[in-house]
Formats: sequence, C-alpha cells, structure tokens
Amino acid sequence: MNNYQNISIRMEDEIVILAIARQDKLNALNLATLSELKSAIQNISIDPTVKALVITGSGDKAFAAGADITEIAALGRESARSFSENGQEIFRLIEVFPKPVIAAVNGYALGGGCELALACHMRIASRNAKLGLPEVSLGILPAFGGTQRLTHLLGKGKALEIMMTGKMIHAEEALALGLVNRLVEKPFDLIKDCKQILQDILKNAPISISKVITSVNAAGQKEGYQVEMDCFADLIETEDFKEGTKAFLEKRIPQFKGM
Ligand code: COA
Repeated sequence: MNNYQNISIRMEDEIVILAIARQDKLNALNLATLSELKSAIQNISIDPTVKALVITGSGDKAFAAGADITEIAALGRESARSFSENGQEIFRLIEVFPKPVIAAVNGYALGGGCELALACHMRIASRNAKLGLPEVSLGILPAFGGTQRLTHLLGKGKALEIMMTGKMIHAEEALALGLVNRLVEKPFDLIKDCKQILQDILKNAPISISKVITSVNAAGQKEGYQVEMDCFADLIETEDFKEGTKAFLEKRIPQFKGM
C-alpha cells in the first residue's frame, strides 16, 4: 500500500488517510503524482477492510496548489486534451468511490487542487485554507472537471464569479458559500474531525451510503431519477434494510453487516 514517492498512505480505524506528499512544491499535482493517486484509489476501492477515505496534503501550508504548472507550460493541443482526459478520469474515480471520501483541506487548494477537493464527497477545511480556480490567470481553464463540479455545487452565478475572477476564497467565505462543508478550529484537529464525521456516517448501512453516492452523482443527468429509483429497489433486497427497519420497530440500535 505504501510503495509511492509522491503520496503517502496510512490506515487509521479502517479509514485510509491519503496525503499528497510533494510538500516542497505545495503538493502540486504533477503527472507522476496523479498516476500514483489513480493506482492508490483503484487499490483502495477494492480493499474490503477500508471503510472510508480522507484525502489531504502533507504539511500545513497546502492541500494541493494546483496541477504542476511546469508540465502545463509544455503542453500542445493534442497533449492538452489527454492531460485533461487523464485528470478527469482520475477525479471521476474519486467521485464514484463507493465509500465516503472527505477532502481535508489544510491550506491552499488551488486549480487542480481545488478540483481534487471538489471531486471528494465532502470538504472539511482548516481556518488557513484558501480555495480557488485561478486558471484564467494562466490563460487556461479548470480542466479536471472543475467547471462542471463547481457549477453543480454552487450554481452558475457563483461558479462563474469564482472561475472568471480566479480569486482565492478564504475558509470562512468558502463555508458561507457551501464550497466547504465545515471548518475546523485547530488545523491540528483536521484529520481527527474528519474521522469523527466519518464515524457518524459509518454507523449507517454501508450499501445505503454507496447507493446515495451513486444517486447523487446521477443528479443533473437525465437518468438521475431513474438511477435513484433503481438504487432504492436494490436496497430493499438487502439484509441491512431488514435489520434497519426491524431494529427501529424493536427500539434497538441496528447491527449493519453491509449485505
Ligand atoms: N505548479 C508547480 N509548482 C508549484 C505550484 C504549481 N501549481 N504551486 C507552487 N509551486 C511551487 C513553486 O514554484 C515553488 O517552487 P520552488 O521553491 O522550486 O520555486 C514552491 O512550490 C513553493 O511555492 P511559492 O510560490 O514559493 O510559495 P508562496 O507561499 O510564495 O505562494 C501560492 C503560494 C499558492 C500563492 C503560489 O505558489 C501559487 O500561486 N501557486 C500556483 C497556484 C496556481 O495557479 N494553481 C493553478 C494551477 S492550474
């Protein structure tokens, strides 16, 4: 699990903490890091001992300060398309990850770093966090899915403002906008708080959580309502559904088994 140069991975209480580990470059996402991220996400997603994932950045200054600008500067038309496709594909793996994924935003989350946070299911930030999509200041645009995800999250007006100004958004404003779900007082407590939120989520039926993720990801697509209906029908057949309703009626805490 730990054979990586640009990311670090540790497991705490069945929760994987994955940190981008290029601290000297403010955890900028170069192609080698993205490739390791992809391989790690693929491995973690099929590991039954993992119940949830937290993605963060090493150090206390940055979550990730963007895709690596030295690599972007060398792109041509064709390589730009595959660069974007590669980033979109990896972040899509995070979005559809069948277990809860929280971005622990511990500093700068800019450009591709902000897009990485947007691909996670929730964002918890420390007070020193600064988020933004400054790509227009480089003559490009967010191309790892950010134009779509930010618009879904905040609506067109705010998304356009953020992407057209390219301005950094401080933690408190990000909270007010709904760009982050919660703020943590002490940066030191960020991972602890993420784990606490996850412990609450993980008390619920695992297949329900996974189907909620699937249905929410279908929101805005034509077939979204159909996906929700199919997921609901699937859940009715699970043991956890029987246990959940039975426990309620018997006035006890349910014992979910994820089946
Ligand atoms: N790509 C490549 N390298 C990056 C980077 C990125 N996105 N963001 C930071 N770095 C590197 C810097 O080049 C510097 O490297 P060096 O020490 O070898 O010179 C190192 O990380 C530290 O960054 P620095 O700019 O010195 O830190 P700072 O505290 O002065 O500024 C930021 C922090 C985040 C404001 C600044 O680094 C920045 O604007 N980064 C780019 C953000 C961006 O536009 N992201 C979108 C990219 S699509």
